[in-house]
Amino acid sequence: MAHVSRPTVVLMPGDGIGRHVLPEAVRVLDAVGFEADYVEAEIGWDCWVRDGEPLPPATVETLERHRLGLLGAVTSKPEAHARRELAPALRASGVRYRSPILELRRRLGLDLCVRPLRTFPGNPRNFVRRGAETLEEPRIDVVVFRQNTECLYPGVEWTDPPAAVRAGLGTHPRFAPWADVPGRDLAVTVRIVTRDASRRLFHAAFTHAARHGYRSVTVCEKPGVLRETSGMMCEVAEETARAFPEIELHFLNIDAQLLQLTKSPEAFGVIAAGNMFGDIVSDAFAGLVGGMGFAPSANLGPDAAVFEPVHGSAPKYAACDPSIANPLAMILTAALLLDHVGEADRARAVRDAVARVVSRGTCRTFDMAGIRGGPGAVTRGAATTRAMTDAVLACLRTAD
Ligand code: IPM
Ligand code: MG
Repeated sequence: MAHVSRPTVVLMPGDGIGRHVLPEAVRVLDAVGFEADYVEAEIGWDCWVRDGEPLPPATVETLERHRLGLLGAVTSKPEAHARRELAPALRASGVRYRSPILELRRRLGLDLCVRPLRTFPGNPRNFVRRGAETLEEPRIDVVVFRQNTECLYPGVEWTDPPAAVRAGLGTHPRFAPWADVPGRDLAVTVRIVTRDASRRLFHAAFTHAARHGYRSVTVCEKPGVLRETSGMMCEVAEETARAFPEIELHFLNIDAQLLQLTKSPEAFGVIAAGNMFGDIVSDAFAGLVGGMGFAPSANLGPDAAVFEPVHGSAPKYAACDPSIANPLAMILTAALLLDHVGEADRARAVRDAVARVVSRGTCRTFDMAGIRGGPGAVTRGAATTRAMTDAVLACLRTAD
């Protein structure tokens, strides 16, 4: 979606280190000459504690209006913990905590998640493979296309399913072994796949491969077991592939994909998967390219787009002053936003600057340097969040 007029970006710092890294990404956007207006919107833990709603309706409205969002990170905690922290007046109201990121994806129809995971040479956290007598650092360049709203994520699930659901399940011969399990001992989560969403996923994956010179699209599912849901996805992948004869289509079961991860990660280009397997495979590849500090993501829908680093709010480090969080995932996320609004040159400039900072090796946050995080990380030699951004800005200024 190319924006013709000056875009307005909805900034959602969220919780914890999200509040540290988001302003750094905006400094980079400014420095690279991106002309935009910014408005702030609330999301996350404080909203939950105060109102019982971690995704305020006003935030959804603001995003619907401007269609472009940049999110820092949000905190998620288990149900019982979430209830304990809720404002006392709301505790009896029956409100239940649900991740505002999932709600955002659902409410705005952000059905596609794109996660590029690339090796930045010089990062000491890059995966190294042991050969017979050598150590090799494979050059990884993977883009995961994850279906973002379906699969096991819609929240269609029960402990003690209602009678009508049990009766429905009972019509399936394979449900027989569980037919007599007492309700409170039976939990069911439904995996939902549709042809339309699968078409959008694979069309986006193949289009990206064709435009950006990737040789293949690998579908990571499990059709031999999940015959209906993975089966439908694989069928749609095959149909879609016909329009892209120059791109190879591979099917690799998710378990085999994870096995291949440390054997030949450089063999993969575009990977497409359903929501849960896409979640897993994107973290797996992130681990090979430096971890969460290097994992950006785009949540794309037909009418809106929200960009977020894959990492969480890291409550452990939220109180560190100065901040020690690695801002590079957030900065790379801002580069994805630039790509999305048709600012490919500026996006490239940001990525090049990050690449140069990493390869020089003079500025490394604690995660990159293998230094214990928390208070004192800076005295142990870790760069601060701000120093890392400053290093990126310096590289941007000296770009040819
Ligand atoms: C991600 C995260 C989320 C997900 C969580 C926080 C709900 O793991 O964006 O990968 O599972 O999608
Ligand atoms: Mg995840």
